[in-house]
Amino acid sequence: MKIRVSTLVARSLIAVGLLIVTSQVVATATVEVYKSPTCGCCAKWVDHMRDNGFTVNTHDVGNKEIRKKSGISNSLGSCHTALINGYAIEGHVPAEDILRLLKEKPKAVGLAVPDMPHGTPGMESGRVDPYNVLLIKERDEERKDTTIYKRYDPYANKAESVESVKPESEKSTSVMRLK
Ligand code: CU
Ligand code: CU
Repeated sequence: MKIRVSTLVARSLIAVGLLIVTSQVVATATVEVYKSPTCGCCAKWVDHMRDNGFTVNTHDVGNKEIRKKSGISNSLGSCHTALINGYAIEGHVPAEDILRLLKEKPKAVGLAVPDMPHGTPGMESGRVDPYNVLLIKERDEERKDTTIYKRYDPYANKAESVESVKPESEKSTSVMRLK
């Protein structure tokens, strides 16, 4: 009995330890968001970040000043600018790309989704447009000089899934025949 209890204790300690390690990336990343007080889609993006485990502080002072200070060119401009662990995030960047950035820690200014594409987190309008998450490597880099960090294309995904469905169903019929 004594052994079982201590094993249980050890196991739960390991589990807690693992939880702490996996949540650390998010837990240490407090997001400072600069936005206009009346921006509805900015508030929705803040909700998206909180839903994904980030702690968010908002500064309702607009984002033009902080964008310039952070080294993000106006050609990459969007409605809000966020600061996280030394990186700047411009616009409606999905949380998963920010998590990847914080994990991979590239030498960069940050990420941007310029303008406000339909279908980005916080811009759910029912319409979904393709868009790129851009990696800004140098301060004041122009939009055309950035690198595509992640491409979101609802049409490309549809084409892929149509192609992959066919071989998959053929495979299952051949398995049926073998039986
Ligand atoms: Cu917006
Ligand atoms: Cu915004």
